Amino acid sequence: MIPTSASAPHSKPSGAPLHTIDLIRKKRDGGTLDGREIGFLVSGAADGSIPLEQLAAWLMAAWLRGLILDETRALTLATRDSGEKFSPARLGKTAVDKHSTGGVGDKTSFLVAPLAAACGVAVPMISGRALGHTGGTLDKLEAIPGFRTALTLDEFEAVLMKCGASIVSQTPTLVPADRVLYALRDRTGTVESPGLICASILGKKLAAGLDALVLDVKTGSGAFLRKPEDSEYLAALLVSTAETAGTRAVALLTDMSQPLGHAAGNWIELAESVDLLRGKRAPQSEDLRELSLILAGWMIHLGGQAATPELGYARAEAALSDGSALGTFFAMIEAQGGDTRAFSDPNFHKPGATQVVPAWESGFISTMDTTALGWAVQRTGAGREKAGEPVDPHAGIDFHARRGARIEKGQPIATIYATTPALLAEPAAILEQAIHISRTPPQEVPLVSRIFTREIAEAHLRKAVSR
Ligand code: URA
Repeated sequence: MIPTSASAPHSKPSGAPLHTIDLIRKKRDGGTLDGREIGFLVSGAADGSIPLEQLAAWLMAAWLRGLILDETRALTLATRDSGEKFSPARLGKTAVDKHSTGGVGDKTSFLVAPLAAACGVAVPMISGRALGHTGGTLDKLEAIPGFRTALTLDEFEAVLMKCGASIVSQTPTLVPADRVLYALRDRTGTVESPGLICASILGKKLAAGLDALVLDVKTGSGAFLRKPEDSEYLAALLVSTAETAGTRAVALLTDMSQPLGHAAGNWIELAESVDLLRGKRAPQSEDLRELSLILAGWMIHLGGQAATPELGYARAEAALSDGSALGTFFAMIEAQGGDTRAFSDPNFHKPGATQVVPAWESGFISTMDTTALGWAVQRTGAGREKAGEPVDPHAGIDFHARRGARIEKGQPIATIYATTPALLAEPAAILEQAIHISRTPPQEVPLVSRIFTREIAEAHLRKAVSR
């Protein structure tokens, strides 16, 4: 999993002309690409001069062979530099963001961005679309009528000046290389690679000119890297790469052994987030509330607005209770063209077909294959089969029981919202395979299992590469 070799079977003298086919073959055969070669591939992705089939072949070679630290760092910086960059200097505030490595029902962005902004931190957030089995922040936000994610840098700055937070997409000019490679990885089975994930996440985040970044690295059955040792390596890689590029970073290893909160889909995830911002609590949303406050606490601390992450948590909790985070979120939505009336309209959520899935036996919910649950959500119509397809804003799955809950046969375990009745059967069948019910309750899993600061990350990486 952690490649250390620096052999170069097809090395060329520096300055010689580069050819994509040579670089694909070099990576395929276990070689290491240098910064110039990686820069050549990334600029070819950004300006369209390298055809998608060659980029896909290189991605698969990189996925199979792995990227060494130097390649990951070069790919990250080349991705950051592939287009225009945002400078938060004129905002007059510390710029801090959060990014997750991807999960099911992972909607913390809708909470942490307004929570941190309401506490005086600027949150310039460049996000992504659905990737593999995980949902995408941008697809979810576009479920709000009128909401625009592709802003110009001037528009991005104007929203940040007004609201303190803005969530936007990569565009043909803002991190264009990630726009192309992200969509290609989604279609070519090349998502689950620490080096590619690191460059994709940090390419976007560093292009936003952040002072600090909080990374939510998922571990467990719904994470891209499921094994704890792989997610720990990714956490260390992300923190060390961000810090080397001049952005303060911390990574929290968090549980993805079940969907986060109760909703997984597009509109239904926003509705769950707004319920929490409105102070409505539900037992199935408590993990989402808690994780959002912890992440926002770190953002507020790194943004200089609290002496410790714990004091940051307390400030975030106050911004949740006094409604200021809700006000910030609605102001941001309106500034990006969205119509917030949908959140007060009980008839807005109109799925094409609905099916309640009853529990097939009595017992305790013991384990969940959360990756399979993520695919079930995508197949309701909430995700896309082909690049560029629209997603159904109303599709998704509402989960009614958490891991460890006692459930009786026949009790609703989930509600599926699909685009058409024909799209109900596959997700229903996946649910029955992916959720296990047992006679005894499972062991509890901590919501946050480890925290990686720079020192911890560097020590971890040194150990990992010397093994
Ligand atoms: N989020 C990203 O932006 N990129 C990845 O590769 C995974 C999660």
